[in-house]
Amino acid sequence: MTKLDSKSVLTSGVMKMPVVGLGTWQSTPEEIDTALNAAIDAGYRHIDTAFVYQNESAIGTTLKKLLDSGKITREELFIVTKLPGTGNRREDVELFLKKSLEALQLDYVDLYLVHSPVGMVNKGFDQLFPMGEKGEILFDMNTDLLELWKGMEAQVDAGRAKSIGISNFNQNQVKRILDSCRIPPANLQVELHIYLQQKEFVSFCKQNGVTVCAYSPFGSPGQKAFFEKRGIPTEGIRLLFPLEDPVVKEIAEKHNKQPSQVLLRYMIEYGVAVIPKSTNPDRIKQNFDVFDFELTKEEFEKISALDRGEDGRMFGGRGSQGFFNLMESHPEYPFPK
Ligand SMILES: NC(=O)c1ccc[n+]([C@@H]2O[C@H](COP(=O)([O-])OP(=O)(O)OC[C@H]3O[C@@H](n4cnc5c(N)ncnc54)[C@H](OP(=O)(O)O)[C@@H]3O)[C@@H](O)[C@H]2O)c1
Repeated sequence: MTKLDSKSVLTSGVMKMPVVGLGTWQSTPEEIDTALNAAIDAGYRHIDTAFVYQNESAIGTTLKKLLDSGKITREELFIVTKLPGTGNRREDVELFLKKSLEALQLDYVDLYLVHSPVGMVNKGFDQLFPMGEKGEILFDMNTDLLELWKGMEAQVDAGRAKSIGISNFNQNQVKRILDSCRIPPANLQVELHIYLQQKEFVSFCKQNGVTVCAYSPFGSPGQKAFFEKRGIPTEGIRLLFPLEDPVVKEIAEKHNKQPSQVLLRYMIEYGVAVIPKSTNPDRIKQNFDVFDFELTKEEFEKISALDRGEDGRMFGGRGSQGFFNLMESHPEYPFPK
């Protein structure tokens, strides 16, 4: 294994993705300024957001201040955002990316991802989950991933995205894109943590030059509260707590580190990038402080053995309800049951 340090990157084509980035799902616009400043001070250069997180404007405001002050340069930053499901059409990609760039106050993003293979009807920028008369979510059952990808490639040609990728796609969907694309996806962002390690899929991606970024590396402990606050049913959501795992806790104690740091260290040694979310400056700092220790071979294998396969999947896992349950009727629903 090459020695990992705070400047380590995953490369694919022209893309150089820093291995630790800041996640921002559930980070409110009010929390962003403190979080981003803490992250930049700690050494983060990779920031992950999405159109649907509704915090791109706040991120843009702070980035502008940081760039204007000369504290960082645009070239040092690695900014990722995502096309919402309501934009999953070739002709809609440009509209949504331009809207994101305007909010972020940037000329380009380093990586633009298709957020999900499941398309929804486009009812305007403010309708993130468009509803029909009976309160049903309006899915676009005619999502054509290969056509959509042509719209993504056009963003690279236009200079609005340096690299493009996909999120929440399964192996078959990644393969279909690889088999027909002009510009291959540089990155796949999927749920990945000690209980859902997706070993075969990760190795398929690596063999095909697609880097992988792990979302919810701590098992997204804040998601239940987030859904409840919005009245989204949480019944049946599988909640897992990697931070509480006894094997991880024991290894953390041995290294005089926190369980969070062991979880992140395992993932970057496993060869993927991580984007832990926090808005707490101390935890933001802690989550980047993972370059001064290494797991022994035995420790690495112990954590590798914690994989639960599909039983470890939270987002859209077996028996999940609410939004994911509704999505299942879509022909491009990606998750195995
Ligand atoms: N592509 C997709 O569909 C998708 C889906 C989900 C997530 N994501 C991306 O991946 C990022 C990370 O995933 P996530 O937000 O679901 O969950 P996560 O990073 O696994 O967990 C975040 C939660 O852990 C807490 N936390 C952070 N650092 C901690 C530490 N050192 N010790 C203890 N608790 C800690 C945070 O609270 P505090 O803020 O209070 O610290 C927050 O509640 C997202 O923010 C988003 O950028 C992408």
